[in-house]
Amino acid sequence: MSRPETSDTAPGAAAGTAPEIRVEGLHKSFGANEVLRGIDLEIGRGEVVCVIGPSGSGKSTLLRCVNLLEEPDRGRVFVGSTELTDPDVDIDAARRRIGMVFQQFNLFPHLTVTANLTLPQRRVLGRSRAEAAKVAADNLARVGLAEKADAYPAALSGGQQQRVAIARALAMGPEVMLFDEPTSALDPELVGDVLAVMRMLARDGMTMIVVTHEMSFAREVADRVVFMDGGVVVEDGAPADVIGAPRHERTRNFLSRLLDPALAGLPGETPEEAGDAAGG
Ligand SMILES: Nc1ncnc2c1ncn2[C@@H]1O[C@H](COP(=O)(O)OP(=O)(O)O)[C@@H](O)[C@H]1O
Ligand SMILES: [Mg+2]
Repeated sequence: MSRPETSDTAPGAAAGTAPEIRVEGLHKSFGANEVLRGIDLEIGRGEVVCVIGPSGSGKSTLLRCVNLLEEPDRGRVFVGSTELTDPDVDIDAARRRIGMVFQQFNLFPHLTVTANLTLPQRRVLGRSRAEAAKVAADNLARVGLAEKADAYPAALSGGQQQRVAIARALAMGPEVMLFDEPTSALDPELVGDVLAVMRMLARDGMTMIVVTHEMSFAREVADRVVFMDGGVVVEDGAPADVIGAPRHERTRNFLSRLLDPALAGLPGETPEEAGDAAGG
């Protein structure tokens, strides 16, 4: 009967190695809305952690706090041994260690694919034109889009644009990649190519936090799945446990709604969340 307690302790910190990302007691409110209510999370080097949870549970805010697009109210965030929340930290240098991919690809429409990749390298990293172009070409090849180097974003499918956005983030040489629902804006037939790129990154040893509702991806690729609800981590463990045998009622409810969209919007969702869902 006694099942080993795999959850709740963070298996992320592999024996003897410091975690690549550490979040301690993270709190964040927007006005009276307490969105993160004490998040603790450790992610080991090369680990892939999928974050799941209902709309409005704070998943995006968590990612945005990890790369300091939002300033936490309380708590600490570390990347490697650098505390990002240290007031004296070189925030720009620290942020460069973290790549972020959003649901909306945010490519510059007036720039070619290559220019989308070279511009941030030159502006932020001060790379020469030639070096930036070389790194851009390498990373476009990595996501399977070498032949689109001179195309403009509007000529690409959503899936291709998202792969360009991933290549753009990779071109900056991040140690960690954060993905916020990277396939949610895509037509279903375009999701697979983006997930394949993420799978490759995982295989290559990239440390990744992926907010996603792609349960088959989470099951197959994630080392751990974190279920968030109401601004706290409810469950944190192996995919087979959190998705396959969730211990908490809230996790079970969420997963059953996800698997049966007809149940979405039934009691359990706040009006605000229902509104978010309706708004797409
Ligand atoms: N910049 C912001 N200003 C005010 N409220 C925000 C802001 N960002 C997020 N929120 C609120 O925080 C809550 C959690 O949002 P979010 O982190 O986007 O959740 P999730 O990604 O899990 O759907 C929501 O109620 C949202 O309206
Ligand atoms: Mg979100």
